[in-house]
Amino acid sequence: MTISLNVLSEDTQQSQSPPAAPPIARQQPGRLIDSHGRTIHDLRMSVTDRCNFRCVYCMDPNFRYMPKSELLDLDEYIAVARAGFSLGITKLRLTGGEPTLYPQLDDLIGTFGRMGFDDLAMTTNGSLVDYSRARQWKQLGLDRLTFSLDSVDPQRMREMTRAQTSLDSIVRAIEAAHRAGLGPIKVNAVVIRDVNDVEVADLADFARDHDVNMRYIEFMPLDSSRKWNRSHVVSADEILSRISARHELTPIDGGDPHSTSMNFRFADGAAGSIGVIAPVSRPFCSACSRLRITADGKVRPCLFSHDEWDIRTVLRSGGDDEALAAFIADAVWTKQAGHGINSSEFIQPQRTMSAIGG
Ligand code: 5AD
Ligand code: SF4
Repeated sequence: MTISLNVLSEDTQQSQSPPAAPPIARQQPGRLIDSHGRTIHDLRMSVTDRCNFRCVYCMDPNFRYMPKSELLDLDEYIAVARAGFSLGITKLRLTGGEPTLYPQLDDLIGTFGRMGFDDLAMTTNGSLVDYSRARQWKQLGLDRLTFSLDSVDPQRMREMTRAQTSLDSIVRAIEAAHRAGLGPIKVNAVVIRDVNDVEVADLADFARDHDVNMRYIEFMPLDSSRKWNRSHVVSADEILSRISARHELTPIDGGDPHSTSMNFRFADGAAGSIGVIAPVSRPFCSACSRLRITADGKVRPCLFSHDEWDIRTVLRSGGDDEALAAFIADAVWTKQAGHGINSSEFIQPQRTMSAIGG
């Protein structure tokens, strides 16, 4: 099997010098609204850019991490989350890189657990998740775990992650998360043409066997090798027809209007469910309720933003909670209407998914 995205290794950590502060757009307190009328209540916080995997669609083998001094420290992550909470953020997701590599993760989860978010979740590759950690996180206030797993073929999984972690150990981690009460468990699978598209129906079997919500994600131009092109994308329609050839699906309606996925159950009543996330073939930007903060303290209004706003400077120049909240509100105002992947003028952002946080 050839994993063709795996060939290159350009250094894409180019320097960026964003404007110092977003334009001022003072808002109603307690609510984050962008200039397109969308309410933002979902914050994704990357707590490290480090990762022990090198997934072909994300990080090059020679990817250069940011210096530690550039990353936020525990108190700074907490201050940002507190400001977000005061602005009506109800969902907080910890991401990376690989968030389980962050040394003070338990302190972070404990503090966020006490803050009172409605939903506290974390995305992980699962390699460092076992029952005792999962149970500890649950006790500290984590509600849910999402795993990344793109292949249920042991050999292909290793080739896609370019890591030694076995498929079995990820399956054990998923089971541990179930037992620890961190469900419903989601599993993200990025589908790439000629890499793992033959496994779409097998991944649905995995959802049934392990009672997880399998989330098929169209491959997005966020890979550090910059090898993305449209021919690699397997569309939502194709994903759904490949699953339906094996299992009849029933749409789950009445879902969250901010949901970025199309959701299905198995018609035969089996365990597990399916979500299809189609940013390329069916952009869902008009329903977007998200804001991202990178591990080095850049507020990114969109995955595909070219502008990012440096909240680390506000933190390190003694900005109080009010200053942080005002900065975030102003950054949200600049959120672009859509990602523009389908426009001829689309330019891939400098940062990869690992440096943004999924
Ligand atoms: N396209 C789509 N999804 C991606 N992810 C990482 N890189 C990409 C990409 N280029 C997803 C992985 C991971 C989540 C954080 O982001 O599935 O679970
Ligand atoms: Fe690491 Fe996640 Fe990127 Fe894979 S997708 S290399 S697990 S950050």
